[in-house]
Amino acid sequence: MWRKLGAATTYGWTSPKCGVKYAAFQGLATALRSSAGGAKVARGTVTATTDHHGHHHGDVTKRDFLFIATGAVGAVGAALTAWPFIHQMNPDASVRALASIEVDLAPIAEGQEVTIKWRGNPVIIRNRTKAEIEAAKAVKMDELKDPIARSAVAKDGDPATDENRTLKDHEQFLVMMGVCTHLGCVPQGDNPAKEFAVVEGSHKVGGWFCPCHGSHYDTAGRIRKGPAPENLWVPVYAFISNTKIRIG
Ligand code: FES
Repeated sequence: MWRKLGAATTYGWTSPKCGVKYAAFQGLATALRSSAGGAKVARGTVTATTDHHGHHHGDVTKRDFLFIATGAVGAVGAALTAWPFIHQMNPDASVRALASIEVDLAPIAEGQEVTIKWRGNPVIIRNRTKAEIEAAKAVKMDELKDPIARSAVAKDGDPATDENRTLKDHEQFLVMMGVCTHLGCVPQGDNPAKEFAVVEGSHKVGGWFCPCHGSHYDTAGRIRKGPAPENLWVPVYAFISNTKIRIG
């Protein structure tokens, strides 16, 4: 059926179930009607038409085919044009964007650390002092509560040496998840007074302390005291320049 709506003529149909009116091919149908002597559109399909030579055509004419085909191409074209914009917004893209993050380490002076957010979790990046590195390297594996590296930059099950928890030639930087392996609190570090520092021999050498239940992690982020069962995890990361890392 076709109908007149207000001043504008349009074609469409009415839902027999709910009475909702659907407009169909409004502009194109008008063009068709003006050039082909009288067409009636039902549910988007021409039922009968007579062209300007007076020839009567059956249910579907060549012109109708062009009309329908043009509409279809238009719809596909619009879909293709829209895709790059939609694609940028889809969840996969945002998840991919969050999956890795680049961090410039240049502003982190020796003895300082920053905590950044990656995949919703804190990551601690510390530029360790020589004393901290030496203290970490001096620890024997049998002194460790958790002798496994827990490091995505080492192989599964590798021992928790300082080397396996840092990257070669960049050992001053310790990059690890700031999530206590006990119940997930954020361990505190970077306290100049070293009041919570792990004691190696007779020295407090730094490290991290989890205030929730009192876990102590050493200067390589390994659990040394308290209820936490595992070392702080080292995420996968790589240096992409002398001072820049990509985590993830
Ligand atoms: S959550 Fe860190 S010690 Fe319990």
